Amino acid sequence: MNRKKIVAANWKMNMTVAETVGFLENFRSLVDEVNGVEIVIAPPFTAIAKLSELLGGSQKIRLGAQNMSNEKSGAFTGEISATMLRELFVRYVILGHSERRQIFGESDVLVNKKVHTALASGLKPIVCVGETLEERDAGRENEVLEAQLRGSLAAVTAEQMADVVIAYEPVWAIGTGRTASPEQAQDAHAHVRTILGHLTNEATAAKVRIQYGGSVKPANAQILLSQPDIDGALVGGASLEPLPFAEIVKAGVPR
Ligand code: 13P
Repeated sequence: MNRKKIVAANWKMNMTVAETVGFLENFRSLVDEVNGVEIVIAPPFTAIAKLSELLGGSQKIRLGAQNMSNEKSGAFTGEISATMLRELFVRYVILGHSERRQIFGESDVLVNKKVHTALASGLKPIVCVGETLEERDAGRENEVLEAQLRGSLAAVTAEQMADVVIAYEPVWAIGTGRTASPEQAQDAHAHVRTILGHLTNEATAAKVRIQYGGSVKPANAQILLSQPDIDGALVGGASLEPLPFAEIVKAGVPR
C-alpha cells in the first residue's frame, strides 16, 4: 500500500506571528526541492491568519490547527470553530492531543464530537492516541490504544476514515527526549491498523496514515519513517527551527 507520508509540525504554545514569518522564510527554501511528502504546519491560532496569507494556498505546505471546538458557533468563550478555520484555508486539525486530554480533561467522547464536527466541515482530523508510561509498564498499551480509538472514532464511517490521520504518540516519549524504539513504534502502529480494520474494514485501514509522535528528531526520523506502518511524524520541539524540521520532512521522501 502506497501511503504518502505526512510530516506535521505541532508548535504547541510557541511562535509569535513575527517568529512564524521568520520561520517560513527560511523553511520554504529548505523544502523547495522536496517532493512526495505532505508537509503540515499547525501554529497557534494567533499565527494562522498570517501563515495562511503567506502560504497562499500552497500545495506543498498545508495549514493545520492544534484544536477546535465541537460546537458550531455561539456562546463558547475562548473557543474556535471549524468554520473560522476553514475561512483561513486550514486543512488539518489535531484532535485529542495528550496535552489536551491530560491538562484540559478532554475525553474520548469529546474528541469524538470534535472529529464529527471536523469531518462535517471538511477538515481532516489528526486524531492522537497513546499510552502513559504507567500503562505501558503494566502491559496495557494495546488495550488503552483500542479504547481510545473506539471512543474517539465512534460512528466514523469507512468513507470518512479516508480523511482521518491517526497520530500514535506514547505520552512517555513526548518532550522527554525518550523516543519509542522503531520496533515499539512499529508494533503499536500495526496494532492501531488492526483496530482500524475492525472499526471499518481491512482495505480502508490499509489506506489510513498513522503518524508517530514523541521526540522525533533528525537523528531518528529516518529509521522511524522506514517502518512499514509508520506513515509520517507529528513533531513538537524539533519543528520549532526550520533546519531540523526540514531534515525530518526529507526523511519522509519516498526512496
Ligand atoms: P515532541 O516532539 O516535542 O516530543 O512533541 C511531540 C508531540 O507532542 C507532537 O504533537
